[in-house]
Amino acid sequence: MNTNDLYTNFVLHTYKNPPALVIEYGKGSYVWDVDGNRYLDFASGIATNTLGHCNRRFTRRVSRQLRTLIHTSNAFGHQNQGFLAKKLVDYAGPGKVFFCNSGAEANEGLIKFARLFGKLKNGKAGKPAYKIVCAQNAFHGRTMGGLSATPKPKVQDGFDPLLPGFVFAEYNNLDAFREAIDDETAAVFIETIQGEGGIHSAKPEFLQGLRALCTEKNVLLLLDEVQCGIGRTGTFFAFEQADIKPDGIGMAKGLGSGFPIGAFWVEDSFTHLFHTGSHGSTFGGGPLACAAGLATIEALEDLDLINKSRLRGRRFFKKLHRMWGYHPEIVKEVRGRGYLLGIELKVPAPDMVAALRSKGLLVMPAGTDVIRILPPLNVRAKELKAAFSILDETFTEFATNMKAGN
Ligand SMILES: Cc1ncc(COP(=O)(O)O)c(C=O)c1O
Repeated sequence: MNTNDLYTNFVLHTYKNPPALVIEYGKGSYVWDVDGNRYLDFASGIATNTLGHCNRRFTRRVSRQLRTLIHTSNAFGHQNQGFLAKKLVDYAGPGKVFFCNSGAEANEGLIKFARLFGKLKNGKAGKPAYKIVCAQNAFHGRTMGGLSATPKPKVQDGFDPLLPGFVFAEYNNLDAFREAIDDETAAVFIETIQGEGGIHSAKPEFLQGLRALCTEKNVLLLLDEVQCGIGRTGTFFAFEQADIKPDGIGMAKGLGSGFPIGAFWVEDSFTHLFHTGSHGSTFGGGPLACAAGLATIEALEDLDLINKSRLRGRRFFKKLHRMWGYHPEIVKEVRGRGYLLGIELKVPAPDMVAALRSKGLLVMPAGTDVIRILPPLNVRAKELKAAFSILDETFTEFATNMKAGN
């Protein structure tokens, strides 16, 4: 049986099946398929391969750990977890970190944080607060908590009854959030930049207003930085650009540079809400995953990759913006920051993704009409140039075909 037959017969069909491409190996910003074709990978495992594929210093560090100690469970300690937690606290601010294995799990932790906070919010004798105000067009993952916070039929259909208490307000509309908060509200929970929703950034003044509103109403401000965090937008966390501090942060994707790891951070004044036994994970924070996290962050720091993603990302954004000007029949808008960029199209995104793939460039769709450009943070200037040429050429072909009525 070939790979496609194996997928079709034995893998549950929750993804496109068989897969559009079977990848055999990767190096840097490139991957090769099983037929030996090379692709520039600007999908990066959905904003995850921070250091590209099989980065030498990363694989050296993780291989060393692989040969030393793989798994302990949290019944025992090891030397990596505390170091990685400290690194994250250095960036997030005073507080503590819990490690898990994915973005959805990180968000589950934040939802549990909101419940613990809400139990006490109105006093021991008062009504427990359990509501969480999320944004329309959000995506927070596929667990029951994550999908209950994700108001999309595609994600929620078939899974009733959902977790109660999720309320939705328009993203970037402070009045809508103010209206949605009541005595039973424990938290506001949003993505700093909506990724799956099509690369929509929270405006700095919206985040600042939300911070003040949450403080005024005594509700937590929880930020999902699973996709936009870990340097991808030019600062370690995207919310830093609005100069605010949340009460909790969910992170995952880019943290392990492709190795599964998730984490949530809880601000210092709330860490007492968690106690022995209130949360746990067998695999979370294992030696190997934490080595991957440390290797990622050390590379970001040593190679100045966060600044590079800000500066080079801005230059690339400007080029895309100019391209919008000369492909007005194809491009509706260019959005994003750093290396989390989105192009809203006037043609179907899946068609564009397939056309770009056929020319050797991998990008991610977001919904039906946005493509996401997500290079690794150590992408080379010549690779950005190559990607731009493929985009330009493909857009030109689409426009020519449209004019010819094909
Ligand atoms: C903002 C955000 N939150 C949560 C998730 C879920 O992460 P995971 O797929 O690792 O569970 C994603 C995944 O795309 C995401 O983009």
